[in-house]
Amino acid sequence: MLQPWRVLCAKVVLAHKFPCELRFRGVTVGFDKRPERQPALCPVEELAGQRGAPRLGAHGDEIIRAMRTQLVFQKSSDVKTELLAVLAVDTQTGNARDAQPNPVLLTTDAAIKAAAAEVLKSGEFKAGSNETLLLHAPAKLGTKRLLLVGLGKEKKATAHSVRNAAGTAVRFAKPRGIKKIALALPEGAGLDHEAATRTVVEGALLADYDPDTYRSDRKDQSVEGFTLVAPETASAEERKKLHKAFDEGVIVGDSQNLARQLVNEPGNKLTPTVLGERAAAMAKEVGLKCKVHSTKKLHKLKMGAFWSVSQGSEEPPALIEMYYEPEGVTDGPVLGLVGKGITFDTGGISIKPSENMEAMKYDMAGGAAMIGAMRAIALLKPNVRVIGIVCAAENMPDGKAQKPGDVQTAMSGKTIEIINTDAEGRLVLADGLAYAKMLGATHLIDAATLTGAIGVALGKVHAGAFSNDEETFGKFASALEISGEKFWRMPLGDEYADLIRSDIGDIKNTGGRYGGACTAAEFLKVFAEETPWIHLDIASMAWIDDARPYIAKGPSGVGVRSILEWVRKF
Ligand code: BES
Ligand code: MN
Ligand code: ZN
Repeated sequence: MLQPWRVLCAKVVLAHKFPCELRFRGVTVGFDKRPERQPALCPVEELAGQRGAPRLGAHGDEIIRAMRTQLVFQKSSDVKTELLAVLAVDTQTGNARDAQPNPVLLTTDAAIKAAAAEVLKSGEFKAGSNETLLLHAPAKLGTKRLLLVGLGKEKKATAHSVRNAAGTAVRFAKPRGIKKIALALPEGAGLDHEAATRTVVEGALLADYDPDTYRSDRKDQSVEGFTLVAPETASAEERKKLHKAFDEGVIVGDSQNLARQLVNEPGNKLTPTVLGERAAAMAKEVGLKCKVHSTKKLHKLKMGAFWSVSQGSEEPPALIEMYYEPEGVTDGPVLGLVGKGITFDTGGISIKPSENMEAMKYDMAGGAAMIGAMRAIALLKPNVRVIGIVCAAENMPDGKAQKPGDVQTAMSGKTIEIINTDAEGRLVLADGLAYAKMLGATHLIDAATLTGAIGVALGKVHAGAFSNDEETFGKFASALEISGEKFWRMPLGDEYADLIRSDIGDIKNTGGRYGGACTAAEFLKVFAEETPWIHLDIASMAWIDDARPYIAKGPSGVGVRSILEWVRKF
């Protein structure tokens, strides 16, 4: 299992004589000797002592996590820590006007119950969803502080609300300079210990992330340790299961944070080429085969749709391919994961208004979700072959940019009339889907910040999901029960297809204002053809506008968990 690590530029470090000082995008790092292992796999401790140790996490060169996580089996009241979080539910079921909340702690530890008894009686804490209450110097406990975190009504307590509550505990501690946190695994309220273990870790890791990568006083490096405390009475067999669930949570949380980190990078830092380098670095770290191609390959494959988007930018496109090939699996399905990787979307010649255009750095969130999912897949090793494709390009208006009215020939041979150069995501995906099929994919899933219209339809509550195949979508629907992400199925249909018929060619790239998310999906369906396929339109969910108690505002990493669980259903 990978320990807390930081990935520095492995290539550069290994190429040098030692001792030496290296600059990583403006940050000087000293090395007295060659790191024993490749820095990409060095635990934090091994790098930390190096001369002129880097201001860790600066300038986006590393995949960072300062927070160490551990699972212990102990009595919660004995745990020596700066803050111990205990979850609580409201067991009041009556809805009469005078029905008072009845907060109950989800622990069997008598000392903790005793320490919180007074405050629970006071009515100050109602165990509402993500509500918190802090007690200092609680009597007879090993912890300096006891934090109560609400899950809301007992009946509604799920592994998903536990994920958020764990996040709330971490984000409570962060701004207060509390560096060591423990959380008691919730007992009761019908919560499954394994599922809760996984979601606690996920929630803690997701909460630890802050998007202030380029700030000189970064917040996202502040929490040093997170401990999940499981009952000391657990049997050997149960301990094994919880360790497995815990490790899984670490992998999933880290992978989702990797996606968030990529999405957070601005367009000048994360060009298609750099996105390719990041994917390759990830692949190397976890042992995936990865190839990154550019212009030449696009021409060779006759990817006229993908290329038409990139032709208006000085930045070359990147066609990123990642392969997960489990040993001994030579037949059965091959899953094709295809991500939209527009590292910046100006709209091209159909240029966007300047207001909020800066947000379009996150137009590669679908691609980032696939990179994050491939990382988790590589580490969790499901028994199915997976190909990840990211079509990365920058959509710019330039002398060479494509124009409305242009006709492009996609890799599949279909001709596309360009009505609006801002409908570029479907163009790069058209060739990405065709390519995944050419590489042997039997089932396809794509993720893209494809349309503003999906947000008009569903708000910033659900992302959209479309599919041409009930069985494949069924697997996705059950994946959602594990991931806890909110996707809502949206319709496809011939009436939408009619709206994208072209007078000059096979199809046009926009279908008008109404049903914009559906006509975009219908466009993609033309390239998925008969292959079972799911399209995820994550435009409205990839960026969180307002911070929540359990997650920072900024990139959400939506999709990683659901795509991973979908893959695990095969
Ligand atoms: N990247 C945008 C979609 C988007 C909008 C993502 C808001 C995130 C937030 C996409 O490329 C786009 O511009 N779509 C157009 C399509 C239209 C021209 C048919 C849109 O939604 O306006
Ligand atoms: Mn666009
Ligand atoms: Zn776009």
